[in-house]
Formats: sequence, structure tokens, C-alpha cells
Amino acid sequence: MKYKLYIKNATQLVTVSKDNKPFLVGKEMSNVEIIENGSLIVDEKGVIVDVGKEQDIGPKYRDAEFERVIDASGKSVIPGFVDGHTHPVFAGDRVHEFAMKLAGATYLEVQQAGGGITFTVNHTRQASEDELLSLLQPRLDRMLRQGTTTIEAKSGYGLEKDTEMKMLKVLHRANKIHPVEIVSTYLGAHSIPKGSTAAQATQDIVENQLPELARLRAAGEISPANIDVFLEKGFFELDDTRRILEAGKALGLEINFHGDELSYMASGELAGELKARAISHLEKVSEEGMKTMAATPTFGVLLPTTAYVLRLEAPPARRMIELGVPVCLGSDFNPNAHCLSMPFVMNLACVLMKMNMNESLIAATLNSAASLNISNTHGSLEVNKFGDMIVIDSPRWEHIIYEMVDPPILNVIKKGTVVFS
Ligand code: NIG
Ligand code: FE
Repeated sequence: MKYKLYIKNATQLVTVSKDNKPFLVGKEMSNVEIIENGSLIVDEKGVIVDVGKEQDIGPKYRDAEFERVIDASGKSVIPGFVDGHTHPVFAGDRVHEFAMKLAGATYLEVQQAGGGITFTVNHTRQASEDELLSLLQPRLDRMLRQGTTTIEAKSGYGLEKDTEMKMLKVLHRANKIHPVEIVSTYLGAHSIPKGSTAAQATQDIVENQLPELARLRAAGEISPANIDVFLEKGFFELDDTRRILEAGKALGLEINFHGDELSYMASGELAGELKARAISHLEKVSEEGMKTMAATPTFGVLLPTTAYVLRLEAPPARRMIELGVPVCLGSDFNPNAHCLSMPFVMNLACVLMKMNMNESLIAATLNSAASLNISNTHGSLEVNKFGDMIVIDSPRWEHIIYEMVDPPILNVIKKGTVVFS
């Protein structure tokens, strides 16, 4: 029998979970499963077929053939990161806005001055599909080097049918040619297009853009899994948001939206009503909203880079975990929060949101996979899941968080194939 990969004798083989738990909440998030002197076998399809102590795995596979053997003695191995929230398809450079923000401008002031999403929309509309793809690829490369093997990725810089569909096509194409796996999200309601109102934009999305999305999806040109809205004062408010999310749900998309970021918008409450899969941001979420999220359950995708860049108060991660909200992490990679690194996100989650390192790892792997409905195949190192993992050049896995910039990553592995070393 021939196998793709044998990870041999890792000092810490961090499987994250066992017993195929779909996600972890509350106190469970403080405990990651670790096998000391652990080994793992990946088959030719890229799927993990055995995990255990080297003393058991070694003799069992003595006569087997492997495409690749990695001796992980003195090293640690963790699952590849699942980045739960990114906006990686865009054209145009907004570095000048960073200077404005450092000088004291708020996110909304930058937006009102013609910057922010509006600026990116103008550039993205003008860029061709091929141009956007070639801008996306190096971003995915950089994510991969930092250990990210799967991302959620949004459209949202078109705000009209053709550009939104162009962005989804770019994501669909990238998913076929790049090792970073992409779960894509339609975010036609990211902002109100210039010269339009929220009501008009909502109508266009529901009556014009979503039917086109369904058509292109059936034709195999795009593959959106989720629908998103920026629920915010002055953007899409409660009734418009509900209408768009319900229309997306009727097409079989999962509800995964931006809420309670700059103002309290009753996001958690809406998520309960619509049985939303996930809400991102949540800086201003209410106690009631968090309780509803825990009960539904709706995943809370926390994005510490946004609070950091905009100098906002961080979301109440501790309270969410206490109440049993399944907490996840994302980079929010976009021209406002230009971060491609999940190790840095986890470090911020620990320092700014007071999460412990085990909670951060679970939030960046198993729970974020579950927020995308793929934790049966992704997010932990268990039998029947894909062999997506990171080999760390340290006997203790926490170095990937502790050494926040340029952590000691030796290999990144996607479906059993070494894709970075
Ligand atoms: O998740 N809040 C809205 N959307 C993005 C920012 C997008 C942008 O500024 O281009 C976010 O932070
Ligand atoms: Fe976002």
C-alpha cells in the first residue's frame, strides 16, 4: 500500500480535538488535544487515515511505501489555519489611508472623504478578471507561508452585478489553481453604491444580482457558499439586511454576516431569528445577542486586526466564551486591515481580547472550519479529515503564537502535499 505522507514522531502532535467534535465551546476551548511523540499517515487522496503514538504507528506501517516522510522529532505539528473572514480580491492601494487614520481620522471619515470601500470599488470595477486573479495569487501565497490552508473569501468591491460576479469568478478560478482552499461568500451588500439608496441597492441585490448568482452557480462558473451583508448604521440596516439574507438563504446560501462592528445593530438577535451560521466583528454585541448566538448556535468570527488598526474597543471574547458562543478567528484581510497572518491574529486575540493560546488555536482551526460548515473534513488532525497541517520548528507548538512575526514554520502541508517549506 502506498501513502502520500508519514509525519513521524512529532514531539507535540496537536490534533486539537478528538471524537470528531464539530466545534468546541466554553471551557472545552481551553484544552487542545496533544499526542506526545505522535505520528500521522495521509493516504493518496490527501486524507488522514491514522493518528497516534509513534510506538504504535511505526510498527504498523513498517512495510508501507510513502511518497514523503517528515521526521518531526523535536518539532510540533498543528492543523493548517482556517481563516474565517477575508476580503482578498481587490485592486487599488490604500496605504495613504493608514496615514489618515494614524492622524486621527475614523473609518467613517475616511469613507466620507471618498476613500475606504468606495475607493476600492472604483479600482476593482476597472480591473479585469485576469488582473484581479494575478493580484490575488501572491496574497494567497503569503497566507500559505503563514500557515493558512483554507480561507473564507468575500466579494463586495463591485456593488453591482457584473463586478460582484467577476469577483466570485476570480475566487472560483483561484480555488482550482492555488493550494489555499477557498470557501467563497457573496457580499453584494458591502456598501451603498454611489448615487443609490439602501432600498434601491437591496432591491437590485434581491431582484437582479441574486438571480444572476444562481444562474452562474448552476453553470459551474462560481461557487458561493455563504451570503453576507454589512449590517451597520448608514449602510444596510435591519430590514434591508433581513430581506437580503433571507433571499440568499432561499438559494441555499449560509448566512454569515458583518454585524455590531461600529454600532449596536441587534445582530445576535437577528441571527437567532434567521438561524444564521456566523456573525463577524461583534465589537458592540449585546448580552442578549450573545445569549441568542450561544443558543442558536451562531459562530462569532472575531477579527482583532480591525479593532487594532481602527483603535476600537476589542469584541468581548471572554464574555462570549463564558456564555458558550462558539468563537472563531479571522484576519479580515482587506485594504483597511492589511493582515495576511493568522499567527499575528492569534497573538492579538491573546493580548487584546484576553483569549488563552488554546482558545486562539481552536478558534483559528476547528471552530472557524465549523463556521464554514466544513469541520467534518477540516480544522483538526483526525482520521477522515484532510491532511492540512503546519510543521513548527520547535518542540512546543505555542511558539507559532508567541513568535508573532515570522514564526518558525518549517512546512505547510495541504491534503498531504508539502506546499511550502
Ligand atoms: O470587514 N466592515 C466592513 N468591511 C470590511 C472593511 C472593508 C474595507 O474597508 O475595504 C471589514 O472590516
Ligand atoms: Fe470584513
